[in-house]
Amino acid sequence: MIEIAPSILAADQGHLADQVEATFKAGVRRLHVDVMDGRFVPNITIGPPVVAALRPIAERYGALIETHLMIVEPDLWLEPFREAGADVLTIHVEAAPHLHRSLRRIRELGGGPGAAVNPATPLTALEEVLDELDLVLVMTVEPGFGGQELIPHTLDKVRRLRALLDARGLGDRVALEVDGGVHAGTIAEAQAAGATLAVAGTAVYNTDGSIEANLRLLRAACGAG
Ligand code: DX5
Ligand code: ZN
Repeated sequence: MIEIAPSILAADQGHLADQVEATFKAGVRRLHVDVMDGRFVPNITIGPPVVAALRPIAERYGALIETHLMIVEPDLWLEPFREAGADVLTIHVEAAPHLHRSLRRIRELGGGPGAAVNPATPLTALEEVLDELDLVLVMTVEPGFGGQELIPHTLDKVRRLRALLDARGLGDRVALEVDGGVHAGTIAEAQAAGATLAVAGTAVYNTDGSIEANLRLLRAACGAG
């Protein structure tokens, strides 16, 4: 069953701790933190202090924090985010010219290495480093903002990546995450394409209904009842 990683980008930032607490209470064990620098993407969001503030809440629930680093020069920020308490650090292949070294560095720091690809980036950009990864994130929208529509052809990339991971015997070791435009109307298709993790911001936090009810809807939509 696909696991949902709620993105706090869409949460009420004035009540972030309460919203995160409610998210974990509703059974979530993986929180997605979207880090944007105003350079790799045209938006600015969250830095290490927010991760550090959320860390004790995550610990109380035995939950993971994954940081999605939509930033240039990600190497400069691996240590600060890891020290702040990020369990998984996902960097964009488009922003990491020495991807192998950066992923090794994340592992050295004790984090889970993730690599993300934008909608226009082919899978060949990460084929050589699949062995280094805990997670591949396929952007299903252009990164930068929540609330966008999923770009349909990106699910074809998810299908091809699923086949590639399975063919390499990495199917159980590397999580395949979709990010952007995931809601009750798209999550089942993402799961069928082979995704094991689904990021959802708007569908969890910025929709009518409580966080718990929204999560229930998402789970029901992919057959979890
Ligand atoms: C976009 C971010 C996503 C985003 C998803 O750049 O990486 O995580 O918050 O938001 P929704 O679920 O609203 O598409
Ligand atoms: Zn994200």
